[in-house]
Amino acid sequence: MRNWSVAGILVMGLAGAGLAQDAADAVAPEGATALGGQVPDVLQPAFEARQAGKPYVSDNWMVAAAHPLAVEAGADVLRDGGTAADAMVAVQAVLGLVEPQSSGLGGGAFLVWYDAESGELTTLDGRETAPLAATPRLFQNIDGSPMGFWDAVVGGRSVGTPGTPRLMEVAHRKWGRAQWPSLFDHAVSLAEEGFSVSPRMAASVARDAERLASHPVTGAYFMPDGVAVTEGTLLKNPAYAQSLRLMAEQGAAPFYSGEIATDIIAAVRGANNPGVLSAVDLALYQVKERPAACAQYRGHDVCGMGPPSSGAIAVGQILGLVEKFDLASLGAQDAETWRIIGDAMRLSFADRGRYVADEDFVPVPTKGLLDRGYLAERAKLLEGDDALPEVAPGSPEFHHALNWADDDAIELPSTTHISIVDSYGNALSMTTTIENGFGSRVMTRGFLLNNELTDFSFRSHNNGVPVANRVEPGKRPRSSMAPTIVLKDGIPVLVVGSPGGSQIIGYVAKTIIGYLEWGLDVQQAIELPNRNNRFGRYDVEVEALSEELSAMGFEVSVRDMNSGIHAIAIGDRLSGGADPRREGLAYGE
Ligand code: GLY
Repeated sequence: MRNWSVAGILVMGLAGAGLAQDAADAVAPEGATALGGQVPDVLQPAFEARQAGKPYVSDNWMVAAAHPLAVEAGADVLRDGGTAADAMVAVQAVLGLVEPQSSGLGGGAFLVWYDAESGELTTLDGRETAPLAATPRLFQNIDGSPMGFWDAVVGGRSVGTPGTPRLMEVAHRKWGRAQWPSLFDHAVSLAEEGFSVSPRMAASVARDAERLASHPVTGAYFMPDGVAVTEGTLLKNPAYAQSLRLMAEQGAAPFYSGEIATDIIAAVRGANNPGVLSAVDLALYQVKERPAACAQYRGHDVCGMGPPSSGAIAVGQILGLVEKFDLASLGAQDAETWRIIGDAMRLSFADRGRYVADEDFVPVPTKGLLDRGYLAERAKLLEGDDALPEVAPGSPEFHHALNWADDDAIELPSTTHISIVDSYGNALSMTTTIENGFGSRVMTRGFLLNNELTDFSFRSHNNGVPVANRVEPGKRPRSSMAPTIVLKDGIPVLVVGSPGGSQIIGYVAKTIIGYLEWGLDVQQAIELPNRNNRFGRYDVEVEALSEELSAMGFEVSVRDMNSGIHAIAIGDRLSGGADPRREGLAYGE
């Protein structure tokens, strides 16, 4: 085992809407690190490939995730004949320990599954739900004005019913082959014997020390004796090991009606800024299987998670809007390319803000938003030479004559993405989150609880018009997570996704365009500079083309954009790519 790290602590790109976006930009959520952690010997070739900017190539299976120890756990399962669903359980269990700021048992996830035997694609919605006692005023002050962001996030108020433990169980029941208890072995050993804190985790703890200290259990774990853990600290988490042991023995049940459920509720209700989560919320929680939302792009089907995520709709809209332009000839270095992509992003974000929410509560025109005729008509707006002076939502075909107001949900970029292809030909794309870095900062049983409810719009109405993504009891907050599988003639060719709050949409669209349009390999596509335009301001990662984009009328902001794209291209062989902006790897055999 070799220890390695690269400093590269950066301030990251952020998400939000309008003023909310600026507010979000002023705070420091989960920061970026270039590399970090421990690389087990078996993964050294994968590390070297990533350092050289090359994909890692294999013949039988591949796993790409945000931390080498999680990749190692997944690889062991796949090598032993486990499926992608089995490997996901092992990867998620380790990520919850070694990358606790990004995802875990206290959070939620979306999973896209391609089943090699049936040729079918499906999605699992393990999104958190609002408590039954929550009201549209959850994040409003007495006078109805939206609460300050941190006043909403930190404490029990923002915690939704976690979905990840149940999703792990459901995925394993449906598609697993390995013995369930064995999938926790890696994570239990690491939690009991200790793991080396990575540079990314250490930097995140240092930056968030004050908020972590606001909850005594959280403060004691991340700052033992009042001192923040640093890179290389050997950290043990016996409480997490105990939770995993219970899960290995009893499945997800203890999280929803057993002793862990009791502790989750006590933590939420006993925290500063308490929440209203109850035993009924946990007992009623369900993972929902939903059809994939698919868009067509250059002869491919780009499929992902529909509502309550806006991910597949927005990625599909961006691709549908740019398809008529000859991006292949223009290339990735031309400002005209990024004018078209940037304004396509703005158009899709305008629709997202107006129409997308949990469709079990509000009708969402998913088909209308991805309709090729609708997108072709809207793409005419992109035919000029300059940035669009203003952008408004369109009018997709929508059988429900309802009008929604635009929402102001803030989504900060934390979260993590797992891509896996197994030796049976199944493919899994899963984005998993506790929302903000360290979620609500409330910890129990060795894991952090999410603050996913702040993905709802804080405003329930705008000028008397209801916002689709307002808080309602039992509802799931709108997400931007975009776990994606791209198919050609029904066969998967690319598995991809990223963390990053509402920036996720641009990161994923960029990678697909780079791979399909410019013929880049998967690592090159991931490494393309990030350029995202969500609400008008053009966030760019590099100076190149900024002058040209400014001259076209865009407000350009050069900033660090902390994607964490993990992708696997499927051809004669498997090619895995891992984002050098984070600590992950792609490895296969
Ligand atoms: N909380 C990140 C997302 O769901 O988009």
